[in-house]
Amino acid sequence: MERKGFKMLSVKNLCQSYKNGNEVYHTLKNVSFEIQKGEFVAIMGPSGSGKSTLLNCISSFIPYDSGKITLDGINLTNLAEKEIAEVRNKRLGFVFQDFMLLDGLTVFENVCVPKVIQESPYKPMEAKAKKLLQMFDIERIAKKYPAEISGGQRQRTAVARSLMNDPLIILADEPTGNLDSRSSEAVIQAFIEAKKQLQATIFMVTHDSISASYCDRVIVMKDGQIHKEMKNRGNRKVFLDQLLNIFKDLNGGDGNDVD
Ligand SMILES: Nc1ncnc2c1ncn2[C@@H]1O[C@H](COP(=O)(O)OP(=O)(O)O)[C@@H](O)[C@H]1O
Ligand SMILES: [Mg+2]
Repeated sequence: MERKGFKMLSVKNLCQSYKNGNEVYHTLKNVSFEIQKGEFVAIMGPSGSGKSTLLNCISSFIPYDSGKITLDGINLTNLAEKEIAEVRNKRLGFVFQDFMLLDGLTVFENVCVPKVIQESPYKPMEAKAKKLLQMFDIERIAKKYPAEISGGQRQRTAVARSLMNDPLIILADEPTGNLDSRSSEAVIQAFIEAKKQLQATIFMVTHDSISASYCDRVIVMKDGQIHKEMKNRGNRKVFLDQLLNIFKDLNGGDGNDVD
């Protein structure tokens, strides 16, 4: 906990656009925010508001027009391709909506993948994987294959995998998007454990207000801009009500499903 309050991610005046013939579509318009070490932050907003684009800019999967992204003091803007790959493999953790597990590998082997890629020694890798499997209550299924386990177990496997390299930040795009509410909650609890036990920093896109209500802070995007930032003051139910109200205003809908 010693570095809690330390600035982990800083995004400053980020602008991104797509060109389609002569037309330019601005996806991100001057987006600025910070995330502290050990924070669990959700990003919400209507479909097409730029959430995935923002995540992909942070992981340098897509280029941007201007602005600056800094991770743990490393200026990610203008890094060479080789350095970007290094940051992605060693310093970032990813969790995707469709899990992205390798079907031919067991749960244990999937969790080990980030270390295997780095040709890390077996013993410490095994110890680390076991610890993570235990933490997320998937130790019993370590020898099973993805096809043999539930969606919630698959996603908890993916969360364990994302932590194998002690990433500076975990980027998760709709990690509960394919899960029922019970499995979703188990995945959110896995993030909360990672935050508590490993001081993990998590940045998660979600359109589920219930999932977001477990976060420390929610950044709401609209039309490529930050519409609002909301802080969880400690009472989850109160925070959930605030989130539902925001989205009622934003879509004129029931507030729970922003997309
Ligand atoms: N490769 C692309 N080419 C052109 N437009 C894109 C591309 N990817 C996304 N967009 C557009 O950028 C906007 C933001 O998309 P996205 O970041 O995926 O939104 P969100 O994740 O919030 O639903 C959308 O209008 C989308 O159509
Ligand atoms: Mg998206």
